[in-house]
Amino acid sequence: MCGIFGIITEQEQTLGPILIDSGRRLAYRGYDSVGCATLTADGTVDLRKGVGRIEEVSAKLDFAAMRGLRGITQLRWATFGAPSYANAQPHLDSDGDLVGAHNGNVVNNVQLRELFIREGLTVRGTNDGETCVHAVERHFDRNGGDMLAAIRAAYVDLEGDYAFVVTHRDDHRLYAIKKGSGLVVGLGERQAYVSSDLPSLLPLTRRIVRIYDGEMVVLSPGVVEIYSVHDGARIERDEEWYDGPIEVAEKGGYPHFMLKEIHEQPTVARELLHLLHSSPHVDRFLDALTATGDRPVYLVGCGTSYHACLLGAYLFNQLGGQPAVPVLGPQFIEQYGHSVGPQDTAVFVSQSGETKDVLNAVKVMRERKGRVLGVLNVLGSTLMHHSNVYLPLACGYEISVPATKTFVNQAVLFLYLAYRLAGRNMAKLDGLPDLLAHTIETVDGPARQVAAYLDRWDDMYYLGYGLTHPIALEGALKLKEITYAHCEGIFSSEFKHGPLSAVQDGYPVVFITAPGDEAMMINHINEVTTRGGRAIALAAEHEALRANVHDYLIVPDADRFLSPILATLPAQLVAYHMSVTRGIDPDFPRNLSKTLTVD
Ligand code: AGP
Repeated sequence: MCGIFGIITEQEQTLGPILIDSGRRLAYRGYDSVGCATLTADGTVDLRKGVGRIEEVSAKLDFAAMRGLRGITQLRWATFGAPSYANAQPHLDSDGDLVGAHNGNVVNNVQLRELFIREGLTVRGTNDGETCVHAVERHFDRNGGDMLAAIRAAYVDLEGDYAFVVTHRDDHRLYAIKKGSGLVVGLGERQAYVSSDLPSLLPLTRRIVRIYDGEMVVLSPGVVEIYSVHDGARIERDEEWYDGPIEVAEKGGYPHFMLKEIHEQPTVARELLHLLHSSPHVDRFLDALTATGDRPVYLVGCGTSYHACLLGAYLFNQLGGQPAVPVLGPQFIEQYGHSVGPQDTAVFVSQSGETKDVLNAVKVMRERKGRVLGVLNVLGSTLMHHSNVYLPLACGYEISVPATKTFVNQAVLFLYLAYRLAGRNMAKLDGLPDLLAHTIETVDGPARQVAAYLDRWDDMYYLGYGLTHPIALEGALKLKEITYAHCEGIFSSEFKHGPLSAVQDGYPVVFITAPGDEAMMINHINEVTTRGGRAIALAAEHEALRANVHDYLIVPDADRFLSPILATLPAQLVAYHMSVTRGIDPDFPRNLSKTLTVD
């Protein structure tokens, strides 16, 4: 996981601002370290890199002043090698002739490093991006200075999934290769670009060339050549014109993107419902869902998107009469990869559309000739391209690492589909955006108070029953992701089967309850409160429930099936306020990355 960007121009110029801007757009892919390299017409390499976020490192090292004909930026999310100057990318080869950076994982990194050291190459760090550069270096001389031949040979040595950009100081071209990680080319008038993703290219050009696994590209100003890495043959491919929106990432007066994105939820839910009511793809999507007959539909995702799958499966089974099984991406491969076939349908859910754990499962489903349905936020993503039918989440850019508005719209989308499957009247669903707006207005103050209490603890639980179980998992994930406290979400009836032993005086447990489940939840609450625990209800107003808890986060009274979506908002706000209280930036929690393109 990381982000790479490369540019080549006809005229030597100040490339710094372009490198910084594309770096900012790629920062969601990693923010452990950042680096830029530029090469001037005479082959002088200017390499600046450091540990930390692009805003700090670029200001400290004055990236803005960097000039040249070629430039490379890399944003790192550390896998091989701790975040450090030596492991920050781009990397040089032994004598500084080659400059390169990668995104992904080279799984035989350790063995290759040892080999390179034995052979006398100058290995400076432990990062696999450096290994990519040395792998090319090693074959460069043996192939008479032929970069394409050297890259092809390096490809054989480098095991794993990655994308890689590299250039030689005396060769006025940029080279890149794609093997499993994202890579897109953009063409300008007298410039060419290569990047891990489309959004970082769109401010520069709409002329896009898609690159596929096993392909190498050679970029010259305004020109791209594509070659097969397997036989070296030239591949002809037309450029595409991308006419989608350029997303603008601004905080709009909010202190953090997360808070802004929480407040956008009523609007994006309204827009999604409007889109679903009018989209011709919905019928195709529903046809594919129901084409499985009695066989279940698989709902596949990871992290927050998996929690949406849990909720979706509940709604499909209970409301829509459609058997559905929620499953994590890798678990889908392990458990069902051998048995799915042309008669099966799987819905792959991913905000980014680039999560490797999900795309691996997509690959298996395609190989087994099953139907691939996509639910995604980023248009143009790999998941979109690999789906037989897809539905967009219509949330716009989600910058903050914790997913908020995309989860709510995943839930809204599943609820809409379940309503359609059940033949329900949509009127109740259309009232949801107003209920979301009302929830944000009324619950923010109480959420702050609950956050202040939880802040005294580093361990707690979120409990949900049936319909609210996915929300308990999601609330707990949000809280641990951005506060660094341990918080576990579980099915409330399971608490007595072990975790109850954690309860002591004042120990916080949040009970998320849907209308109709209060009586059951009151039992589970009392198992905690009689042992001194502090019970916090997250539910619509209910007299008996109130009588049994210490604190109450109220959501509007609504249809039972709408209630989990409403309950999500207070859980997000509690996590947000606790994060801020702890002095953490909720948009960029430590060790994480918005998009995980590694196994
Ligand atoms: C959620 O807050 C997380 N950032 C994370 O769990 C995320 O949902 C997961 O990595 C899946 O991402 P995707 O939706 O882009 O596939």
